Amino acid sequence: MKIAIIGTGYVGLVTGACLAEIGHAVICQDSDSEKIDILETGRMPIYEPYLETLVRKNRESGRLSFTKDFEQAVKPSVVVFICVGTPPLENGEADLSAVEKVSREIAEVSDGYKLIVEKSTVPVQTGAWVAKTISIYGSRNAELDVASNPEFLREGSAVEDFLHPDRIVIGVQNKRAEMILSELYEPIIHGKFNCPIHTDCSRDGEAVPFIVTDMNSAELIKHASNSFLATKISFINAVAEICERTGANIRDVSYGIGLDKRIGRSFLEAGIGFGGFCFPKDLQAFIRIAENYGYDFKLLKDVENINVERISLVIRKLKEALWIVKGKTIGILGLAFKPNTDDIRFAPAIEIIKELLKEGAQVKAYDPKAMERTKKELSEVLYCRDPYEVAMEADGLVICTEWEEFKSLDLEKIKACMRRPFILDGRNIYDKDKLLSLGFEYKGIGR
Ligand code: UDX
Repeated sequence: MKIAIIGTGYVGLVTGACLAEIGHAVICQDSDSEKIDILETGRMPIYEPYLETLVRKNRESGRLSFTKDFEQAVKPSVVVFICVGTPPLENGEADLSAVEKVSREIAEVSDGYKLIVEKSTVPVQTGAWVAKTISIYGSRNAELDVASNPEFLREGSAVEDFLHPDRIVIGVQNKRAEMILSELYEPIIHGKFNCPIHTDCSRDGEAVPFIVTDMNSAELIKHASNSFLATKISFINAVAEICERTGANIRDVSYGIGLDKRIGRSFLEAGIGFGGFCFPKDLQAFIRIAENYGYDFKLLKDVENINVERISLVIRKLKEALWIVKGKTIGILGLAFKPNTDDIRFAPAIEIIKELLKEGAQVKAYDPKAMERTKKELSEVLYCRDPYEVAMEADGLVICTEWEEFKSLDLEKIKACMRRPFILDGRNIYDKDKLLSLGFEYKGIGR
C-alpha cells in the first residue's frame, strides 16, 4: 500500500521503516527540515538497534523515502499515520496542537479516499476530535476515515516490538477502515516477512492477536497499559521500602510473587524508579483525562508519588552513609533512563544529579551513550571517559542505569580508585555479599 508517515520522530521513523520492510511503499514527512536532511544523508536522529540498517535497505529498494513536503507525502497515500509528538503541557495534559494541525492539513490537501490513523499516544476521544476536524476542513470530494492504532514500542527494542508485537490494536468506525488495516498488518499478523532480526522467528504458526475495537477503547488500551506497567514498578518499589525496614530481600520477594502467572515476572525490578518519555507523561495524562471525565484516579497519583520519592530516597541513603554530602565527590554511573538507549528524558539520574548539585556535591558521571545529550542539560557535571575515571577520588558511586558494562567492572580497581569505597546500587545489579567481602560499603534498594 501507499502509506504516509507524518512525524519522523521515535514512533514515526520506526513505523515507517518497518512498514516498508514488510512490503509497503512509505513516504515519511517531518516539518523539522533538519531531521529530514539528517535522514536523507542516511544518518539517524535517534539510536535504535536495527533501525539504521532497515532505513538504508528500504531507501535503496525505493520502498522508503523522506520529504519535507507535506502534500507530496499525503496526496498519493491511501493511509496516513499521524506520528507527531504529544508532549506534556504545564498542567500534565497532552499537547494535542500538532495532532489537530496535521489532521486539518491532511483534510485540506486530500481528495478521494484516505484513512487517517492516529498512532501518537493521545487521550481517549482524540480520535473523535480528529474525525470532527477532518469533516469540517475536508474538501468536498475527500472521503476521509479515521482510526486509532496505538504503538507499544519500548526504547531500545522498538524495531523488534513493531515486527513482533504481543498484539496489534485498532480502533475503527467502519468495516472499510478495518479491512485496510487488517491488510496493512497482514504480513506481521501471520509472520509473512523475512525478519531482519532473527533467523527463525516463527510464532509456531500462531497469529499475532489483532484487536478490532472502537477508537475510544483503542486509545484507552494504550494509557491503561502503560499505567499498569508503571503501577507494577511503583508497587515493587513500595514493597522494597518494607523489605528494608524488615530485613527482607526484595530480589527474593519479587521473584517469589512474579512466578504467579497472574502477576508475571517482568516490571517487578525495584530500583530508583521509571523514567523515559512514556511512563511519566502517560501517567500524568491519564490522571488528567480521568479528572476531565470526573474521576479522581488516586491510585495513579500514588504510583506517581512513589516514583518521585525514589529521588529523595537516594539522597537519604547517601546521607546515611556519608553524613555530609556537601563538598563530597559523588560518581554517577548511568545517565540514560534505561540501558540500550541514549534517551535521558525524565531519567532518574538527571533528577538525582540536580539534587546532589543543590546539596553542594561535586558530581562526576559516565554513560556509554547518553553523555552528549546530558552535557546540553547539565554543565556543572564532570563527564568522564569511563567508570574508573568516575571512581577516581570519589566518596561514593551511584549506579543509576543497569548498563551491561557496569556489571563486569574490575571492582578491586574501582575500590582502589575511590576515596571512600561506598556504592549505592540504584538498580540492584551487584551481589551484595561479594561487594562486602571486597571491603565496599554497600547499599542496594530493598536489600
Ligand atoms: C514503555 C512501555 O514499556 C512501552 O510499551 C510504551 O510503548 C512506551 O513506554 P519505555 O519507556 O521505552 O517503554 O521503557 P521501559 O522498558 O518500559 O522502561 C520504562 C522505565 O521503567 C525505565 O526507566 C526502566 O528503568 C523502568 N523499569 C522497568 C523499572 O524501574 N523496573 C522494571 O522492572 C522495569
